[in-house]
Amino acid sequence: MSMRFHLSLAAASAAFVFALAGCASTSPTQPRASADLEPTRGNQVKGTVRFMQTGSDTVLVTGVITGLKPNSEHGFHIHEKGDCSSGDGNSAGGHFNPTGSAHGKYGASAHHGGDLPSLLADAGGVARVNAEIRGISLASGAANDIAGRGLIVHADPDDYVTQPTGNAGARLACAVIR
Ligand code: CU
Ligand code: ZN
Repeated sequence: MSMRFHLSLAAASAAFVFALAGCASTSPTQPRASADLEPTRGNQVKGTVRFMQTGSDTVLVTGVITGLKPNSEHGFHIHEKGDCSSGDGNSAGGHFNPTGSAHGKYGASAHHGGDLPSLLADAGGVARVNAEIRGISLASGAANDIAGRGLIVHADPDDYVTQPTGNAGARLACAVIR
C-alpha cells in the first residue's frame, strides 16, 4: 500500500468523525460503548449497560441490572478508572470528575460528570436505566470522554451530599466502559 493511499484514508476517516460530531440526532453510526457489570467478591449483582452519544456532550445510558435487594436504591456512578482488578471495585478509583465539581445529584445540583441517577430496584431486584446524561461524551477524546472509565453499582443509596462519594457504601458490581 502506498503512503499516498494511507494519507487519503486518514483524511477520509477524519472527515467522517467531524461529520458525526456535528450530528445531534440518533443514528446507527453514533459512538457507542457498553459495560458488562460483574459482581464484586461475595455479591451477585450484574448487568449490561449501553452508552450511545446523542449530542456533542450528551450520552444516552440504558441497561438492566439484576441481583439487587427488592425495592432497594443504589448509588450508581461512572468512576475514574476502567479497572475492576481489585475484586472489590475499589481499583476503579473515585467518581469521574472532569470538571472538578462537587459530588451531587444529576439534574439537581453541582455534580461530578460521573454522577448518574440512582438505581431503583423493583420487587424482583431488577433495576432499569434509561437516562440521557449531559456533560459527558463518548469516543470524543475530550476531557469528559467516558470511554475506558469504570462503572460502579453501590450497596447503599447515594445521599448526594457527602463529599466526594455520596456515602453510597461498598461496590457491588464493577465494569469497564468499552
Ligand atoms: Cu460510585
Ligand atoms: Zn460523584
